[in-house]
Amino acid sequence: METATVSRNGTPWVVEFYRSALGKKAVMAATGIMLFGFVFVHMLGNLKLYLGADAINHYGEFLRTVGYPILPHGGMLWIARIVLLGAVALHMLSALQLTLISRAARPEEYERKEFAIASYASRTMRWGGVIILAFILWHLADLTLGLTPGYVFAEGKPYENIVASFSRMPVAIFYIIANLMLGLHLYHGLWSMFQSLGCNNPRFNTWRNEFAAAFAVIITIGNISFPISVMLGLVK
Ligand code: HEM
Repeated sequence: METATVSRNGTPWVVEFYRSALGKKAVMAATGIMLFGFVFVHMLGNLKLYLGADAINHYGEFLRTVGYPILPHGGMLWIARIVLLGAVALHMLSALQLTLISRAARPEEYERKEFAIASYASRTMRWGGVIILAFILWHLADLTLGLTPGYVFAEGKPYENIVASFSRMPVAIFYIIANLMLGLHLYHGLWSMFQSLGCNNPRFNTWRNEFAAAFAVIITIGNISFPISVMLGLVK
């Protein structure tokens, strides 16, 4: 007998749904919201840099104690890392597959008239995504694992690591460029997510554009302020 969880040919409904373009858009939106939430909370947490070494170092240690003693020390952080990695992988896979579907359906790109910044942001989504991925890999090697050359990593001391890392001028500039790219990506990503969710009514379009822009700007200003503050010697 058939159940509601499998389709007529025996494939689980989740797989069947994912096979459709709508399913892929839903996965992009759901993983996008998760990543967006992480980037926002991560930026807020990093603002503790301005409260001094103790504040941000204690915060780093607090994150490792969440869920303890039910989970081992640092256990929740590992769960969060695995969930985030899974979200990044699914976000990229569905983006790639949607690109292939839309290329097959429409080999010639057509011209669209949009806001200048919105259209620049939309054209940089794919390459922006690749640069952001490169940034995340560098960032993990740099501030989580302490593997990048030119500074001595101190375990459990994010304040000292951030200051030492951004004291390397090329690294600070790379962080600024990557986070500006991330800002454009968040702006267009949020904007088009509303579109996928069917929120595309002329009455809401200005509101939706402003909301996406405001969130992207807040996250970007927060993030680029860290390398800039270290470069200016305001945080040392
Ligand atoms: C200039 C801005 C940023 C600063 C100063 C910063 C700082 C840090 C620090 C200090 C850690 C290590 C935390 C610890 O081990 O206690 C970390 C981890 C991490 N960051 Fe960032 N971050 C920034 C931007 C970003 C952005 C934009 C993303 C994502 C697009 C991101 C993704 C991550 C991830 C995934 C981790 C791993 C979490 C962990 O394993 O601890 N960061 N960041």
